[in-house]
Amino acid sequence: MEANVPKRKETRKSLRIKVISMGNAEVGKSCIIKRYCEKRFVPKYLATIGIDYGVTKVQVRDREIKVNIFDMAGHPFFYEVRNEFYKDTQGVILVYDVGQKDSFDALDAWLAEMKQELGPHGNMENVVFVVCANKIDCAKHRSVDESEGRLWAESRGFLYFETSAQTGEGINEMFQTFYSAIIDLCDNGGKRPPSSVGVGFTKEQADAIRRIRNSKDSWDILGVKPGATRDEVNKAYRKLAVLLHPDKCVAPGSEDAFKAVVNARTALLKNIK
Ligand code: GTP
Ligand code: MG
Repeated sequence: MEANVPKRKETRKSLRIKVISMGNAEVGKSCIIKRYCEKRFVPKYLATIGIDYGVTKVQVRDREIKVNIFDMAGHPFFYEVRNEFYKDTQGVILVYDVGQKDSFDALDAWLAEMKQELGPHGNMENVVFVVCANKIDCAKHRSVDESEGRLWAESRGFLYFETSAQTGEGINEMFQTFYSAIIDLCDNGGKRPPSSVGVGFTKEQADAIRRIRNSKDSWDILGVKPGATRDEVNKAYRKLAVLLHPDKCVAPGSEDAFKAVVNARTALLKNIK
């Protein structure tokens, strides 16, 4: 027993982890890493060719961790190069550009690529994912709002941060929380600790918010057919109001969705006898 003591102390102190970055080309993956590791920003776009690899030592809580960072190229052309780097990863930095909706829509495809490369025995459950909604300094061009990004991330049990590699906003906080969650994962034998899995809202709530956000008119928002009766409208309204009431629903975007439901009902009832 005695002999185990120093060994346990040593493993607690130094930890070696592997982290990868994922996301479309030009969303700012390399700049986020550079901002954190080198405290600088390069405005000129230098596409990553295949993979950039770096090692860095960081201090998180009372632990020193050695991080192997594999910064992947986002361009589809490099698929063959990056596909072998997905395995044995403890953390993924998943990045999109808040001004490029297609880079947000592509997040699912990135997860699918990783899942495919890990194969049937790979386990994405026990990897810490952090989503970076990057380039928030370009507020004028923003096309994906915070609640939409946060909902996508948190409904999957992922961390979410708003970042700017240019100004540095959110970067340190993101990395500290990310590394901290990876330490918790490693301390828990490589499994996501149960406390980090619960998201505080249901899939039904998340789906309803997404559906309402994409609705084209009031009928659509309430999920009733044009020409529905007052009763049908009220029934649909009550169901959604209970599901999304801000006192009961903590999902990102629930307040806006609730308001949309209230307004849709008011608008429809005005015109139904
Ligand atoms: P690939 O390596 O091709 O996959 O791209 P990447 O995701 O690594 O993008 P990179 O970090 O090279 O950044 C792409 C471009 O966006 C560069 O011109 C950066 O200067 C710019 N950029 C990155 N982050 C930010 C940011 O937070 N704000 C602004 N305004 N520009 C940024
Ligand atoms: Mg890059």
